Amino acid sequence: MNRFFILLPWALIVIIVIDIDTKRTSVRDARHVPPPREGGAQGSRRTARTAANRTALPVIYAVTPTYTRAVQKAELTRLSNTFRQVPDFHWIVVEDAGARTELVSRLLARSGVLHTHLHALTPRRYKRSGMPRATEQRNAALGWLRAHRSRRTRGVVFFADDDNTYSLELFEEVPHLSSAHLSDVTSRLPPRSVSQLSRAPVRGGRALGGGRWRSGYGRGAAMRSTRRVSVWPVGLVGGRRYERPLVEKGRVVGWYTGWRADRPFAIDMAGFAVNLQVILANPRAVFKRRGSQPGMQESDFLKQITRVEELEPKAGNCTQVLVWHTRTEKVNLGNEPKRRQDTVLIEFRSPTGRRGPPPRSMVELHPVWESARPRVHPPRGSAVHLCTFHIQGNKGER
Ligand code: UGA
Ligand code: MN
Repeated sequence: MNRFFILLPWALIVIIVIDIDTKRTSVRDARHVPPPREGGAQGSRRTARTAANRTALPVIYAVTPTYTRAVQKAELTRLSNTFRQVPDFHWIVVEDAGARTELVSRLLARSGVLHTHLHALTPRRYKRSGMPRATEQRNAALGWLRAHRSRRTRGVVFFADDDNTYSLELFEEVPHLSSAHLSDVTSRLPPRSVSQLSRAPVRGGRALGGGRWRSGYGRGAAMRSTRRVSVWPVGLVGGRRYERPLVEKGRVVGWYTGWRADRPFAIDMAGFAVNLQVILANPRAVFKRRGSQPGMQESDFLKQITRVEELEPKAGNCTQVLVWHTRTEKVNLGNEPKRRQDTVLIEFRSPTGRRGPPPRSMVELHPVWESARPRVHPPRGSAVHLCTFHIQGNKGER
């Protein structure tokens, strides 16, 4: 008993010391975790690389050309809500503008998606109907990848126009399927789908986030596993419910399309992905203006990097539509008042036709707007990446 009373104070001291030490360590650790931040290409590259190493998954790079109009913020919001849920994802947004706009910068900063924000202005002579769109913007993104990524990076690049809608299954992961969710979901699915859902995660192995992510369609079914160039169906395009590559014995043998089936690759921009190393190994492969007819951009680009026989069919051997060319309706703003406008200034679209720097932030001008703004906390580990990449207007053709 006596011995117990002698040891008790010592035991308490030891416990207190251990406790203090643990707290110190966590403070120290917190300081070493880089906070999500704007600017600083270095920082976000490091974050992206660490993320890639951690999960051993190739990074998915989405290239989105975008331009100022009434529906732009809605379109980018829809895309960001999808992309935010995909791990190891890097969104390259290229504004068709003389400078990056505040609206898009702010949207990206709050999106919680690792991103690079570029701009490239389409020369005015190409801004006509019948002319291919977004050539300069996609080439700016390719230029950025070639300048900032090396043979060390495992990645897959796809072209996500801002008027498309994406199913998460195209990126392989079905989110938030914790075991509780999984049993909830599986109880409502036929037995075959259950076995597909619970199949082991894709190549590279581990389920992410402590088992929260599961493969949607099993090994190699979606774009992340693209070895060279992969293809899949696109919904609501070509005047049909969908277009799709025709597949026989795992090979693409033709195209189900409502428009110019004679194209070498009769596919929409939304229907393919390219391994990053193929982009880097073919530095001259770009989207062309010169010699390219309307609707031939995809074919003209793919011709430079692959052959039809090599294409890798995804989305269940091209039997599922996982992306739709939704094409938001052009809005009618005919009832906007000319005078006596609303007293609250709502951020709606970037001012067009401005020269020089973008306007002062709306936050400074309108505190009401600031306080009404919902607070968004980006997911842990996400980082913001801003970068400018200029394409000279008159050097559009490269
Ligand atoms: C179709 C294809 O789906 C596009 O991939 C292709 O680029 C386009 O045809 C073409 O003509 O070359 P479509 O719906 O007609 O698409 O074109 P949009 O969706 O209006 O534009 C494609 C992308 O370029 C969008 O992300 C859009 O935001 C962007 N864009 C469009 C610009 O950056 N600047 C513009 O002036 C117009
Ligand atoms: Mn479109």
